[in-house]
Order: sequence, then structure tokens, then C-alpha cells
Amino acid sequence: MMSIQTLEQFVMEQQALFPTAKGEFTRLLQAISLAAKIVHREVNKAGLADILGKQGNCNVQGEEQQKLDVFADHHFMDVLKRGGECCYLASEEHEDGIELTKTKRYHIGKYMVYFDPLDGSSNIDSNVSVGTIFSIYKRKSAEGPLQAEDFNQTGREQVAAGYVIYGSSTMLVYTTGRGVHGFTLDPSIGEFCLSHPSLTIPKNGRVYSVNESNYNQFPTAIKQYLQYCKEIDAETKRPYSSRYIGSLVADFHRNMIQGGVFLYPETVQYPDGKLRLMYECNPLAFIAEQAGGKASTGVIPIMDIEPTYLHQRTALIIGSEMMVDMVERYIHEH
Ligand code: AHG
Ligand code: MN
Ligand code: MN
Ligand code: MN
Repeated sequence: MMSIQTLEQFVMEQQALFPTAKGEFTRLLQAISLAAKIVHREVNKAGLADILGKQGNCNVQGEEQQKLDVFADHHFMDVLKRGGECCYLASEEHEDGIELTKTKRYHIGKYMVYFDPLDGSSNIDSNVSVGTIFSIYKRKSAEGPLQAEDFNQTGREQVAAGYVIYGSSTMLVYTTGRGVHGFTLDPSIGEFCLSHPSLTIPKNGRVYSVNESNYNQFPTAIKQYLQYCKEIDAETKRPYSSRYIGSLVADFHRNMIQGGVFLYPETVQYPDGKLRLMYECNPLAFIAEQAGGKASTGVIPIMDIEPTYLHQRTALIIGSEMMVDMVERYIHEH
């Protein structure tokens, strides 16, 4: 009979490896999993609750906010403020990050959390999988107001990263630099239960994931790589399969399980790429590398990019190591 290990038990076990740990990270992850359960509940009855459709305003990205964007942002902000051990919170849905200052209600911790509260918003009304993405740093400055050194940490300095996928089941997948572990929510007991210990991404794959409608806007090397994917060649099992959901978390999670490469290159519309470094690309890059995969702009590793602006964008090529290598080779040679 399979034994059940909850996320909380797993994190406590990991914490026991560090005798000096005081449980702050455990409480932080508990806060994130609580918000994920709240969003799960709404996503699962979206058609019945008044959270489908547009909020009626635009966010700092210039995107029309969906009601679920606002709902998810509110609950992640709320649980992280109320005892998530944080000193700084930054969300896709807010122009500026929020530096938490001491109040009698809120304990101020050392963690900085960047998050995309609801990824794949365009898919909500059509009942397609959506997600949440989070990236966690420790402040570098000892205490007091946060300093520049706290904000310009590259993705290499993340102490943890993860995503939640609200799909046919709801899963929370995270890493603290000691492998990648996946937990599936069992709504009947309200717990995330370990279902994918030590997740690794297949070194190679046959799936490529890209919004082909941008083809004419892509750099030549990307166009040539996409032609390579379509050629007929039995030895390399081409043509590959094209799969594109339009929710980064869902496209990435499929590639994590099956192998594959996701590409969102520079386009004419998004000359720096569309996806955001701090709360989409860095966290997924940390997970990809910890799972034996790769994540780059096509030229440099995502986690080596120097952050300069909270909502800065980057091109993203992420997934199976050998497939990302191939894209990089095309870019290098063309
Ligand atoms: P978000 O919903 O958080 O704004 O992110 C949307 C992103 C990402 O989820 C997805 O991969 C990409 O936008 C899809 O972009 P296109 O519709 O341009 O393909
Ligand atoms: Mn958005
Ligand atoms: Mn997103
Ligand atoms: Mn979003």
C-alpha cells in the first residue's frame, strides 16, 4: 500500500537536514500552498463563480486583467504578507514590488518572493490549464530597508522556485536546489501529496512548442530550426510533434514529463522576448536545470541575465538539454 507524504511533511524532512533551520522556509512554502489551494478551488468552479472574464482594466504589462488574475494576486499577496516570512513581494500584476515594513501584525522575514499569480490568463474562460509561478530569494543586506544588492540578484541566487499547474489535477512542483519534486493536490484531504519525487526532464524529446503565428517575426535561425523540426528523418524521429497550449506553465510541465523544447524567441512585437525574467523565466530555468534540462535566451543561460527592471522580458528557449542545445547551435551558426 503506497504511503502518503504531504508537502508539509516533505519540507519538514528537508528542513531536518539543516539543524540551524528555524522553520521559516517551511512556513513560506505552507503559505504558498495555502494560496494555491484557494486558487485551485476557484479555478475548479470558475464557470459557477463570478470570476470568469475580464476585470475591466489593464495591468502594468498593458494586458487586460482577467478576474482570476486579480483574485489569484490578492490571495498570494495576502497569505505571503500574513506570515510568509517575507520582506519583499513582487507580482506581475503590480507595477512596483512591495517592501514589507514592520507592523505588529506582520512578521518580517528575510525572503523576497517574485510571482506570476495566474499564468495563461488568456485560457481561463476556455477551461484550459493555467498556473502560478514563484521565485524565492533571500535578502543579501543584513537588515533595514532593502538595498540594490537585494534587487540585482541573478537567477543563480534563487533559494527556491516552483509552479502550480491547475490542470486535470492540480500540482505543485518546486526545487530548493536539491532536485525537483512534484506534489498532487488531493482535494478530499486538502493536502498536496508527493507524486513525482526527483522529477527529471528527458534529455531529448520529439515535441516543440512555439506560437507558429509569429513565424514571420522570428529571427532567421529560429525559422530554420522550425524547418528542421518539420523535416522527415527516421533516424532523428522527425518530424517532431507541435504542441502549444498558450499557458507557459502547462507547456513547460508537459515538456518536463514527456521531454520537449518550448520557444518564445524575440519577435517584431516583443523585440526583447515576451516572457518576464523575474517571475516566469528564472524560476522555470532553475527547475529545468535542477531536472537535468536547460534554459537559455538562445545565447546565454537565463539564470545569468543581470536583472535591471522588475518586469523585464527575455527570449526563452527551455526544456530537454539536447533540444535546447540544437536551437543554440542554429542560433550560433546562422
Ligand atoms: P500571463 O497569462 O501570466 O500574462 O502569461 C502569458 C504568457 C505565457 O503563459 C504563455 O506562454 C504566453 O504568454 C503566450 O503568449 P502568446 O499568446 O503570444 O503565444
Ligand atoms: Mn498577464
Ligand atoms: Mn505568465
Ligand atoms: Mn500572469
